[in-house]
Amino acid sequence: MSYAQVYSQWQQDPEGFWLSAAGGIDWVKKPTKALSADRAPLYEWFTDATVNTCWNAVDRHVVAGRGKQPAIIHDSPVTGTKHVITYAELQDRVARLAGALKAKGVTKGDRVIIYMPMVPEALEAMLACGRIGAIHSVVFGGFAAHELAVRIDDCTPKAIIAASCGIEPSRVVHYKPLLDAAIEQATHKPDFCVIFQREQEVAKLVPGRDVAWHEFQYGVTPADCEPVEGNHPAYILYTSGTTGAPKGVVRPTAGHLVALNWTMRAIYNCGAGDVFWAASDVGWVVGHSYICYAPLIAGCTTIVYEGKPVGTPDAAAFWRVIGEHKVRSFFTAPTALRAIKRDDPEGKLVPKLPTLQALFLAGERADPDTIQWAQRHLNVPVIDHWWQTETGYAIAANPFGIEHLPVKIGSPSVPMPGYDVQVLDEGGHPVSPGTLGAIAVKLPLPPGTLPTLWNAEDRFRKSYLDHFPGYYETGDAGYIDADGYLYIMARTDDVINVAGHRLSTGAMEEVLASHKDVAECAVIGVADDLKGQSPLGFLCLNKGSNRPHDEVVKECVQLVRDQIGPVADFKRAVVVDRLPKTRSGKILRGTMVKIADGQPWKMPATIDDPVILDEITTALQSLGLAKA
Ligand code: COA
Ligand code: AMP
Repeated sequence: MSYAQVYSQWQQDPEGFWLSAAGGIDWVKKPTKALSADRAPLYEWFTDATVNTCWNAVDRHVVAGRGKQPAIIHDSPVTGTKHVITYAELQDRVARLAGALKAKGVTKGDRVIIYMPMVPEALEAMLACGRIGAIHSVVFGGFAAHELAVRIDDCTPKAIIAASCGIEPSRVVHYKPLLDAAIEQATHKPDFCVIFQREQEVAKLVPGRDVAWHEFQYGVTPADCEPVEGNHPAYILYTSGTTGAPKGVVRPTAGHLVALNWTMRAIYNCGAGDVFWAASDVGWVVGHSYICYAPLIAGCTTIVYEGKPVGTPDAAAFWRVIGEHKVRSFFTAPTALRAIKRDDPEGKLVPKLPTLQALFLAGERADPDTIQWAQRHLNVPVIDHWWQTETGYAIAANPFGIEHLPVKIGSPSVPMPGYDVQVLDEGGHPVSPGTLGAIAVKLPLPPGTLPTLWNAEDRFRKSYLDHFPGYYETGDAGYIDADGYLYIMARTDDVINVAGHRLSTGAMEEVLASHKDVAECAVIGVADDLKGQSPLGFLCLNKGSNRPHDEVVKECVQLVRDQIGPVADFKRAVVVDRLPKTRSGKILRGTMVKIADGQPWKMPATIDDPVILDEITTALQSLGLAKA
């Protein structure tokens, strides 16, 4: 069938389409209906089914006779180790960990925070939670203690599973002191913490609260897979919104299984026995969906890579992994390829990669130079696809496993079944092809997408549903061309994308505003050749503050690193007298971005005092920005 036929099949009978896709999953109790719409515009899928995620990702492959197949390959250039875990071993390890959690009182619906680097134990912890119906929330290792504390207070975990350390090329990341500080800061206290001690750093355990990974599991009865209802939350993943408080995206169990399983063939063209690699981190949605769940649900071998695209040891690292482990489909962020291209512009380090069938890019806009470089040197289709933490898988893609459609560089191609994507004007009316507007998806969203935000249904409605009734507001702006190809141009909110990481400028502003000398501030994302965007702060100091500006800037940079974490990559700020505002007091961030990036801009009609923009331009020029 062609893409057009598959999409039209879904349009004609959405529920039939997803019930048929549900055939790829092992159910304890099969769903008799797909969609529950009684609380519209809040929707749920497969609510009358019961199922277990871990069974589908692990046990069923052992039962099917593939116990000896590698499930996980850990390839860790930062520690100089490689390690294979078969499906049978994975089943054993996960069942034991789940048994240990159960023995300590973790039961269905309890939350468990996972704070770990790129080690197989992170996936095992996720799967062990799924095995007993506990809801995990993985926190990315590049976040500081404060961000971890915020998540602890929001999802109130019974347990936290953490590693003693992570390894960045330049340093050891001391997870345990960050964890201790986070628990100290948080109001909610977990009952216990399980610490995976790595040989690079053995952490000091808090007696009575912390228990070491192996000791924790010693002598326990392995746990069986416990059935949960289709709409039971599999996990909560926090993502950046407009304010400092992260949004807890809820992932429903059954829809997640059905949809991810469908994407593995339709989009990535992979099935049981194939090696699939997403070079991301388990702390992000790409890591949840395509390092852990989807490849395992489909019976593939997944690679857990603990390294960087460059510097571990060089720009050939990705190609070594692909060649050595015979990767069939490879997924990464454009920023990683830009880093490789910068070190190897001629592609001299790219060998022949006979097993590789396609490269998939997502997480940020894929710029044409990067796509063309990859096409030229890898000699395989390069497929940009667009998605969000909220959806958990691609909204738009080139469905490589169904039909490789003509590529239009700059476009993540066409909507996937399940998504009726429309571009709307401010009044909520669809615009004509080629016209820029807010990108929205007609409700209901397909299975696996967020049904709500954790403990925050009002915020869910306000953030996504209220602005355009009947639609899910994506927060992205763009257009659809006459052939139905989608183009994602910018965010409509204050979210920026730094090195494929989604960050909130609002959160950074909250931190800067807490500095004693800062009266007012703004953070914008300026264009960056490597990272796509880079955050930049504007600081207005309190009257009477006579501190040297560079001292305040240095303290502010440190403050963001301490409060949000190194991942914010906040390294630049500048002191200005005033911020440009509209007469109603709204800061003109968009205009500042255009000036910083040297793009054409118009004097906003509503500006309070145009002279301020001259001051801003001068400040930006002092940083080497705002070049015409
Ligand atoms: N734990 C702790 N710290 C981390 C971390 C982690 N898991 N990941 C990143 N950091 C730190 C880095 O060490 C760096 O710290 P520094 O300021 O002390 O140097 C900071 O966070 C910023 O990291 P990063 O944005 O990764 O920049 P970089 O210069 O180290 O590397 C790239 C640049 C392009 C190589 C890197 O960003 C990259 O590989 N990006 C791909 C991202 C990706 O896969 N995203 C997933 C979406 S699909
Ligand atoms: P995250 O939730 O971290 O996955 O980030 C989602 C956001 O990243 C989207 O809303 C987009 O702004 C951006 N994004 C993801 N994929 C793409 C893509 N292929 N092209 C353009 N922007 C993208």
